[in-house]
Amino acid sequence: MSVIISPSVLSCDFANVQRDVEMINNSKADWFHVDVMDGVFVPNISFGFPVIQAIKKHATKPLDVHIMIVNPDQFVEEFAKAGADILTVHYEACTHLHRTIQLIKSNGMKAGVALNPHTNVNVLEDVIGDLDLVLIMSVNPGFGGQKFIDEAVNKVIKLKQLISDNNSKALIEIDGGVNLETGKRLVEAGADALVAGSFVFNSENPTKTIEALKAL
Ligand code: DX5
Ligand code: ZN
Repeated sequence: MSVIISPSVLSCDFANVQRDVEMINNSKADWFHVDVMDGVFVPNISFGFPVIQAIKKHATKPLDVHIMIVNPDQFVEEFAKAGADILTVHYEACTHLHRTIQLIKSNGMKAGVALNPHTNVNVLEDVIGDLDLVLIMSVNPGFGGQKFIDEAVNKVIKLKQLISDNNSKALIEIDGGVNLETGKRLVEAGADALVAGSFVFNSENPTKTIEALKAL
């Protein structure tokens, strides 16, 4: 199966959201990666529900929503209503992670958990069977355009083992600093999905860049 490509709209032109959504619709991308930041869990604020709803209105592919917020439980239902298909919360932001995962699923979404660069994949051992997706952060969350942290490649290999040891169906997605070079290493290590923001939107031809990532 070819790698899933999830362009991050964080790097799109927000004065031309509809144009950039259509570009992704008409490209070889599989999902829309939507980054929500609260200024508390991460040192940046991105956007909230009105923007997600606007993207959803035009998107013809699933919304892969990555929430970098504290107390995610309080907004799970609202993310479902705004159109999230996959909802990924941070391990570091959840005191009762098992409960949060069940809440996401009971609201009809696929459940993902993201790990910051310092968090070991083994912390997911007791919930891996319940997860649809694990998002490995290959930068510290908060900003697009940062440098890839190489240790992420080893984490993919370790996570792949954890998933197979537990007969889990979870997909492995990587977020941060993905380009053709890091993407190739990640796919070889066993990544199922790649997020790419600045590499896609800062390129001369984003459609072609998505196509090149998809061919990895
Ligand atoms: C960072 C976000 C990423 C970001 C990736 O906190 O979670 O999704 O958009 O941007 P690039 O691909 O530019 O590193
Ligand atoms: Zn993200």
